[in-house]
Amino acid sequence: MELIDGKALALQIQSELKDQVEAYTLTGKRPPHLVAVLVGENPASRSYVRNKIRSCERVGYRSTLHHLEEDTSQDALLALIDQLNKDKEVDGFIIQLPLPRHIDPTAVILAIAPEKDVDGFHPTNFGRMTQGLSAYHPATPLGIMEMLRRYNIDTSGKDCVVLGRSNIVGRPISIMLSSKGNPGNATVTVLHSKSKDISSRCAQADIIIAAIGIPNFVKSNMVKPGAVIIDVGINRVEDASKKSGYRLVGDVDFEAVAEKCSFITPVPGGVGPMTVTALLLNTWKSYTGEVYG
Ligand code: GUN
Repeated sequence: MELIDGKALALQIQSELKDQVEAYTLTGKRPPHLVAVLVGENPASRSYVRNKIRSCERVGYRSTLHHLEEDTSQDALLALIDQLNKDKEVDGFIIQLPLPRHIDPTAVILAIAPEKDVDGFHPTNFGRMTQGLSAYHPATPLGIMEMLRRYNIDTSGKDCVVLGRSNIVGRPISIMLSSKGNPGNATVTVLHSKSKDISSRCAQADIIIAAIGIPNFVKSNMVKPGAVIIDVGINRVEDASKKSGYRLVGDVDFEAVAEKCSFITPVPGGVGPMTVTALLLNTWKSYTGEVYG
């Protein structure tokens, strides 16, 4: 079994990005600028956003955080989005999800200008991605694709099971893996809460992408010997022995599955750092005008 070291890979790509940023700023250009909007105090969201801002600093991007109160109205958030859409000094921005219950996430995502939607959540980017047109691809699936590419993991013609059908991971990665390209060209099955025979379908897969948010869901008997396992889960489980009171576990029973598979991503240190890096890559594309010109 080979461990896919997402953290090391992320740092390597970030170092490449830093060189690119320096090459531009040395000619007098301003650095890329990413804005993150966080509403409320969700602890996991705060930690993700902190990470994104820290990563911007590492590669030499400018970053701005708008941390809004939990009771911020939807109209106030939409007004901020309108302002960010128009701000020529902002290359891209993200609205951290989930949002407080009184805010409709669809209305928020639809308000983001597709040219600045570096999360790739707007239906325009999603639709363009689906049709193979230039688009911002959502960060987590993009990070996974980059990981597969850099580890030379062959997906062409492989049977791939995606566990989960969310708009931000399961659905888009299923489209990306089945699209023409490398990585790509896989035969993809999307499994979800209403699917039958989940265990036996997983056990036939060459590649499993686990993105259902259930700790240790994928057990050893669900894995074919030599399969590739990508664990997208970041679940907080109580652990009194930790200072924070919790530890992070993935959607895969790592210890048991690691013995059986060919490649596996750890949690933490697997997909997570690649997600942040993919966001930086999208911001770079926005800065250089690669997607929308
Ligand atoms: N919540 C969980 N993942 C993501 C992500 O990639 N982007 C945003 N904006 N919110 C998230």
